[in-house]
Amino acid sequence: MDRPLSDREHWTRVAAEWTAWARSPDHDAFWAYRNALAAFVGEGTGRALEVGCGEGRVSRELKALGYQVTATDIVADLVEAAEQANSAHAYAIANARDLPFEDESFDLVMAYNVLMDVDDLSGTLQEIRRVLHPEGRLVISIVHPFRDRGRFAGPDPDAPFVLTGTYFGLQHFDGIEERDGLRMHFAGWSMPLEHYATALENAGFAITSLREPVPDDAAGRTQLQQWARVPLFLWLKARPLPDAGT
Ligand SMILES: C[S@@+](CC[C@H](N)C(=O)[O-])C[C@H]1O[C@@H](n2cnc3c(N)ncnc32)[C@H](O)[C@@H]1O
Repeated sequence: MDRPLSDREHWTRVAAEWTAWARSPDHDAFWAYRNALAAFVGEGTGRALEVGCGEGRVSRELKALGYQVTATDIVADLVEAAEQANSAHAYAIANARDLPFEDESFDLVMAYNVLMDVDDLSGTLQEIRRVLHPEGRLVISIVHPFRDRGRFAGPDPDAPFVLTGTYFGLQHFDGIEERDGLRMHFAGWSMPLEHYATALENAGFAITSLREPVPDDAAGRTQLQQWARVPLFLWLKARPLPDAGT
């Protein structure tokens, strides 16, 4: 098999696709989880960093919640799109595993649906810990590791959810979704929950909250009705441990 593209290479190629996909009203599942996300993060006035901001929709939510937001992404075109939409107060093109900020600069770091995409999960979490204030918190969304390994057998709301391979182990995923005239090429890494928990532990984080959110308004929307039965996303909060690295 050919070597997968790096995180930077892949997302540079699909930046325009992603911007159209993410901005199309109610197209992506994100919009059905937006209110729950705002409640999970909560209002605040501290310094917030989003790593992997894409075209900026999550940074805009953080800004609306009151935070002083810095939006960063590895892809220049996406940071530019975020800036054009006035998504944050400051912007930087940066790999999440090499952030151009001083130690302990942020009260909150948001990693929304990006940890599946990075090539170096451990290095990314260590770098996030470095820039996070000791009293700060990390908020994570990932595609639920269980959902990643199975599929619905059909389009009906009550279609069986089928797991044909194994839940365990690291797997590269690469696939194209096409819906309502839009196309998105997703690629990244699928891994069990234990991989995330271990990487967080090794980076000196303690998980303090875990949520399996359900969509806001699934009525009449088949795919969302399926996600009301099997979780699509997994949300975590984590705090730095005082004795990490010692
Ligand atoms: C699925 S998109 C999510 C974007 C945004 N968080 C949202 O939910 O709208 C993943 C984003 O992560 C970015 N990304 C991937 N690898 C990265 C890395 N190593 N460092 C920073 N950003 C990265 C991609 O460029 C892309 O914008």
